[in-house]
Amino acid sequence: MLLSLTPGGALVLDHWGADGGSARGEDYLPRRPSNWPWDRAFLDGVPLAYPVYGDPTFKEPCLCLVYEDGTRVARLAFREDRIVKLKGRPTLELLFVDSVHDLVLAHRFAVYAEHDLIGRAARLQNDGERPMRIERALSAGLGLPPGQYEAWTLHGQLGREYQLERRPLRPGKFITESRRGFTSHEANPWFAVSPTGETNEQHGPVWFGALAWSGSWTIVFEVERNEALSIVAGVQPFDFAWHLGPGETLETPALVCGYSEEGLGGASRVLHGYLAAEVLPERHRSTLRPVLYNSWEATGFDVHVEEQIALARRAAALGVELFVVDDGWFGARDSDQAGLADWVVNPRKFPRGLGELTDEVHCLDMQFGIWLEPEMVSPDSDLYRAHPDWIFHFPDREPTFVRDQLVLNFAREDVRANILAQLQRLLREQRIDFLKWDHNRPLTEVGWPAAPRERQREVWVRHVHGVYEVIAQLRVEFPDLLIETCAAGGGRADLGILALTDQVWLSDNTDAADRLLIQYGYSHVYAPRTMVNWVTDVPNLQTGRESPLEFRFHVAMQGVLGIGGNVLRWTAEECDRARELVTEYKRLRPIIQQGRQYWLLPPASNGPCAVQYVTNDRRQTVVLLYQLLAMGGRGRGRVRLRGLDPTRRYRRAADGAESTGAAMMAIGLPIVFLQSTGLPHDGDWGSKAELWQAVDG
Ligand code: GLA
Repeated sequence: MLLSLTPGGALVLDHWGADGGSARGEDYLPRRPSNWPWDRAFLDGVPLAYPVYGDPTFKEPCLCLVYEDGTRVARLAFREDRIVKLKGRPTLELLFVDSVHDLVLAHRFAVYAEHDLIGRAARLQNDGERPMRIERALSAGLGLPPGQYEAWTLHGQLGREYQLERRPLRPGKFITESRRGFTSHEANPWFAVSPTGETNEQHGPVWFGALAWSGSWTIVFEVERNEALSIVAGVQPFDFAWHLGPGETLETPALVCGYSEEGLGGASRVLHGYLAAEVLPERHRSTLRPVLYNSWEATGFDVHVEEQIALARRAAALGVELFVVDDGWFGARDSDQAGLADWVVNPRKFPRGLGELTDEVHCLDMQFGIWLEPEMVSPDSDLYRAHPDWIFHFPDREPTFVRDQLVLNFAREDVRANILAQLQRLLREQRIDFLKWDHNRPLTEVGWPAAPRERQREVWVRHVHGVYEVIAQLRVEFPDLLIETCAAGGGRADLGILALTDQVWLSDNTDAADRLLIQYGYSHVYAPRTMVNWVTDVPNLQTGRESPLEFRFHVAMQGVLGIGGNVLRWTAEECDRARELVTEYKRLRPIIQQGRQYWLLPPASNGPCAVQYVTNDRRQTVVLLYQLLAMGGRGRGRVRLRGLDPTRRYRRAADGAESTGAAMMAIGLPIVFLQSTGLPHDGDWGSKAELWQAVDG
């Protein structure tokens, strides 16, 4: 990144992207200002690093505010630059000041040199004696020179999360955002931008960014009048306002941004490396995630100790390492109409206490986990009856019910203290190793009537900080806990929540075919070690589709393998095969969870699909291959591998076949699926996992 100041003092991002490896500031040939009179008068079309309402520009701003005297324009002048250490990172801080109103704006550029990433953020400080109202404070602005660009973003809905979309950016704006109070299923706070037609999965320039925020957010792409591209990103300004009193500060979440010449795959590997080394909670950053069993699809709310013990025994026999009881174990929870926020063990379902199950699970040499939804409350709960005012609401307005539940306002200290104390008690009294932390509805009627009027709109941000705080406190007291983030499937995965949780449940859609697309999109941002997938029963609960056990396993192996079916109903033959596949996964797991990921062939309905993982030392690789629907008579193709050492020989574990890295990357592997008879199989639902290891030397 190359930064400069305009004569008027605005911060310009002159360059973002490739630097040829060694270019320095003085090597940069400045653009000549255009001779169009309008271009000279305004900064539109100039790549501003943080457009402010008050700068001579009409583009989408990062900052809007109102000073106490009613002035709505900010005039910021550069004061100083300094290098500070923030969270152990060298960070360039550029300070700008509006001296009339004593507002200090610090732009932060945290440098992750080893990942080739920059973390951008802004911090506002009121150094004056009068309050000001911040109406929008985004994290950063980014700009690219005039050209033709396309944007890649992730969209969907519950059950169809993380669909990778590509769209041309034309004059005007394209906005991807959440206004739902959480990250959302509809869009994920990540983007990639590339020159039109030049970039694909493997090749081509790509600029990308991801926002570390789990509340409402926005990313705006604006093709300006000269075809320059301006991107601004941060906390959603809709319905937001912040009262910045004298001496107070407001910090934005970070926008991590980078550039790769290796296409979308290159961008994803940079983000995966960063997530694994810098973001995920340190305790489990590099531990292998256990194979888990989750009881949700098997038992729903109908949780009973005897059946759970039977499931646990069967799961252990399959090789499962972590047994998770999902919804239904607590309070008066017999359906989704009651019990949320009463985090006490249901005595009817566990007459001898939860210990009966946790002891059994630990005796079986598995870890034990439970499901929670701490931000939610059922009106039919003891907590709601005692504190009906703890939910988001406006006086005299009926709240909107979703799944018969309402949302607790974590901006309130009393709410946080109550929920934290309940969770602490539970974790102190029970032997619990794992939490699945769910969030099943968006925020509506986001009112906080108990707060001073001028602070009520801060709730969108304070609530998220409150949630972060509670999880962080639990992690301090229970450092070994493994936590999975979930929001009605994949509604909350982002770099903010992933600083506090270890893995992600990315969709309630467990259909293996649909899942390929969901996992494909997700894994463009988030690392395989965070991606939890279950093998469930057929016909699939969500789609009614039937696919073979092996195919379901191979799809679920892409990240963290789980089993979510009713294993008590699996036949002896299915259990035997499942046990073998779990064993196979455990052998591949270090390579899949901690290796570098290459999508070789994207999921397609009647073509093969392949994804590859390579260890950092390039000595081992796993290729997962799938064929959803075969087309009769189509010849068998090859798939070229990536990321190998061209000079090494590799051997296939299954049959000892050998080839060189160079040949496998240039000529590729033949795509052949074998039937159980050993004959090539041209039908639907082919799948396999191939392990290749360097022949020593
Ligand atoms: C959400 C989750 C599911 C399950 C249910 C339980 O929908 O995504 O996996 O935990 O809640 O109510």
